[in-house]
Amino acid sequence: MTPKFEEVTRVQQAMWARGDFHRIGVSQLVVGELLVRALHVHAGERVLDVAGGSGNTALAAARRWAEVTCTDYVPDLLEHAAVRASAEGLPLRTEVADAQALPFPDGSFDVVTSTFGAMFAPDQQATAGELIRVLRPGGRLGMANWTPDSWVGAQFGLQARYLPPPAGVLPPAAWGTRERLEQLFAGHVSKLDTSAEYTGFVHHSTSSLFELFKDWFGPVATVVSRMDPEQTAAYTSDWVHLADQHNTATDGTCEIPSPYLQVVAVKPA
Ligand SMILES: C[S@@+](CC[C@H](N)C(=O)[O-])C[C@H]1O[C@@H](n2cnc3c(N)ncnc32)[C@H](O)[C@@H]1O
Repeated sequence: MTPKFEEVTRVQQAMWARGDFHRIGVSQLVVGELLVRALHVHAGERVLDVAGGSGNTALAAARRWAEVTCTDYVPDLLEHAAVRASAEGLPLRTEVADAQALPFPDGSFDVVTSTFGAMFAPDQQATAGELIRVLRPGGRLGMANWTPDSWVGAQFGLQARYLPPPAGVLPPAAWGTRERLEQLFAGHVSKLDTSAEYTGFVHHSTSSLFELFKDWFGPVATVVSRMDPEQTAAYTSDWVHLADQHNTATDGTCEIPSPYLQVVAVKPA
């Protein structure tokens, strides 16, 4: 059965609009900085950041004097991006857009980026096609995608136990495997480099990290909003247990290294 991508997208958009992803994403600045360095983003290049949230990666490109457009389908997150750019004195264009249907002509950008963003769109093949379509021939695509074995990947697995995903939609963490990337970009890239990276989630404790996610991270806030108190208690306990399993801090606080796949691809010239 073909999944109803439009319906799934509508539900997911409401999920990401819940809470305020900025409060979670701001601790992951390093990911965008590493990606734009790996892409060698240069001054004056036209860069599109897809599913850019509150602008972490768009701002990293803007700090290299690129002409950056940050897109997302949650307008409030783009507002954060604009305020952050203004605070840093950096020019930044923002535009509301679905990663599966980008509102830009073919070949409009020298570089396209997406960190933990485009991977969440339900129609993975359409999304891959759009990322490549808006690149000029010879343009570079950079992504950061959670791997299936990462803490974040496992967290989405836990979420699926409490709030089953729609039938037929592949897990987002499939984008964190080379095998899936080769399928998605088959015949459309001349180079596909991947490297294993990680980023850390640091907080006072795994329990306080859960509180942070429950209040601000749309996917967790959505699960909690749909459950009765008993289910919420079970989910909270499972979430904290999973975080404890991945926690490497030995001083009673929390530091969870979560691996991801960094991707640099080139569109044939
Ligand atoms: C985990 S956040 C990452 C945000 C940002 N890229 C960063 O690295 O901080 C995922 C983002 O993807 C956006 N998103 C998910 N699916 C999308 C879609 N189909 N089109 C546009 N944005 C989408 C969400 O609104 C959210 O801002």
